[in-house]
Amino acid sequence: MTLLLEQYQALFNDTEYATNDPISILANSSAFIMEMVPDLNWAGFYLWDQQRQQLAVGPFQGKVACSLIASGSGVCGTAFDQQATQRIGDVHAFAGHIACDSATNAELVIPFAIAGQPAGVLDLDSPRLQRFSAADQAVLEELTGLIAAKLAPTS
Ligand code: SME
Repeated sequence: MTLLLEQYQALFNDTEYATNDPISILANSSAFIMEMVPDLNWAGFYLWDQQRQQLAVGPFQGKVACSLIASGSGVCGTAFDQQATQRIGDVHAFAGHIACDSATNAELVIPFAIAGQPAGVLDLDSPRLQRFSAADQAVLEELTGLIAAKLAPTS
């Protein structure tokens, strides 16, 4: 799986894909994840909306998803509220899980910060129960760190 990190770096350091635009970075990152990580039915970002004080759906690949999630709600809001990855083998056993796509059975949600401020989560859904291993979590947390670093102001 570290191949995934190398491929991400190679692709996104290519001048063709080099950009500071957060929407471009997140859109291409979600497409990259959806293509490279097997057995996903949804991959994308929820971003903290300072004004609404909720997570708002950002760039993603997959079915239409709920637009706003309160901090502490569902798997995404829990990951954001606790600033801790949620690796859920069976979402039906997670009290408060928000079902956006009925095909989803497992979920991995990884919070990220920009310049030290909690900024959002990466949300990955899979139709396969117990889809995400601890090793998957480690690599995908590293990938999330690479993506978040690209969003950080450089000056
Ligand atoms: N299942 C998530 C909601 C987002 S969708 O999966 C895209 C949750 O419980 O927070």
